[in-house]
Amino acid sequence: MHDRPPGPPPRKAGLHSLPYYVRFAMDPLGFVGERFAQYGNIYYAPSGATGLFVLRDPEHLRQVLATDAASYSKAHSSSARIEQVIGHGLLTLDGDDWKRHRRMIQPAFNRAALRSYAETMVHETERLVARWPTDQRIDVAAEMTELTLQIVGRTLFSHDAGSASTDISSAMRTFNATMGQPDLLPKWMPSPMRSRLKRAVGRLDKIVYDLIDARAAGRSRGDDLLQSLVDAVDGEGDGGKLTRREVHDELVTLFLAGHETTSNALAWTLYLLARNPEALAKLEAEVARVVGDRSPTMDDLEAMPWLDQVLRESMRLYPPAFAVARRAEVDTTIGEFAVPAGSEIILWIYWAHRDPRWFPEPEVFRPERFEPALVAKLPKMAYLPFGGGPRACIGAQFSLMEARLVLAVLVQHCRLDLVRPGQTVRSRTGVTLTPRGGLPMIVRTRTRAQRAA
Ligand code: HEM
Repeated sequence: MHDRPPGPPPRKAGLHSLPYYVRFAMDPLGFVGERFAQYGNIYYAPSGATGLFVLRDPEHLRQVLATDAASYSKAHSSSARIEQVIGHGLLTLDGDDWKRHRRMIQPAFNRAALRSYAETMVHETERLVARWPTDQRIDVAAEMTELTLQIVGRTLFSHDAGSASTDISSAMRTFNATMGQPDLLPKWMPSPMRSRLKRAVGRLDKIVYDLIDARAAGRSRGDDLLQSLVDAVDGEGDGGKLTRREVHDELVTLFLAGHETTSNALAWTLYLLARNPEALAKLEAEVARVVGDRSPTMDDLEAMPWLDQVLRESMRLYPPAFAVARRAEVDTTIGEFAVPAGSEIILWIYWAHRDPRWFPEPEVFRPERFEPALVAKLPKMAYLPFGGGPRACIGAQFSLMEARLVLAVLVQHCRLDLVRPGQTVRSRTGVTLTPRGGLPMIVRTRTRAQRAA
């Protein structure tokens, strides 16, 4: 057994490291990709107090996320910053607390609950597309963020939110903007970014607590996720309910985790479709055949396999959650390598998805890769946009349904062209993988006759 995977030599502290930080900050994806090319599918970076294991091999990912999941926690170095905003919700909790919350929240994502959200998803998209100006430029990335915020807001808070939804949106935008920036100052030092974040957290807390209190006091009711959380009872455990603070933390978590990711999946898919006219034409034909001129429903989705394949291929190339992190809680192993307790692990979903062993010509957009017979041949965890094992995304079905319904409505009503044919858009690694500088596109409205053709 080797002690440690190969990797770059330790660097002296101080200014010697600066060029590496600069290179990493300028192009994190390229930097990590070069290291995988140099050292293989697992490498060790002697950074921080504990060192970093960097992975992309499906077998290694499976060990950390699934077979050996109990040896790892979410208590890695970046979680303190996330907790500042979302508190202790599903994304950051560990151990028995996490198990209890997951058990209580899961029913809000069952099939019957999803069915009740479908109409809202379609309705909000139809409202959005009706407002778009024909033959004019819009920022599709910003529009998709607004849309998914509205959808998550309405399915979580329904009409209770009222005017608060604008405040919630603006608080969420502040989180996204600030959490995507490095914060290298000492903990005690105030900064404009920290003050902005604090104000946004304060505003959001007030809104969310007011909503919870109204529901808990029976002043309002809704058929939504907030109601499920307020009503959720831990049947398998102590029969207790979630506390006010716990409901708060879960709402904020679900709100945050539930909109940025899906909005990026949508923006990247629209970008890729605009660059691949044949795939788009096939999708338009599928939607016209299955849905025609009426509003799409959850039941239509099964009859649209190409729509599903297009979305999956888009999330292969641009996985919104491009990497996930863990900390080893005990001495353990990954493959033939020893992993001491306290080590941090980064699992690069982005680079797993671009492994030519499973995805030949990995840079090419090819939805055919996701035909069921080919998917069956993929190793476990070669494709994992929603993570894997017990901590896999609770909202995976929610977002797969949402993204497909939104795309179906958009394809029915308009065609989105790139501003310049063949234009390329670079990605930016913030909280999620976003189109750098937004995604300007031109709206071409489709007439009823074009839709029927
Ligand atoms: C395209 C859309 C989405 C992507 C790519 C995505 C991706 C992921 C990934 C990779 C994880 C695992 C994180 C880890 O292992 O550390 C995760 C967890 C999670 N996601 Fe998503 N997600 C999406 C949509 C959603 C939605 C719509 C919701 C809620 C409405 C949601 C809520 C969560 C929560 C609460 C967790 C933590 C689950 C747990 O640890 O028990 N996600 N997501």
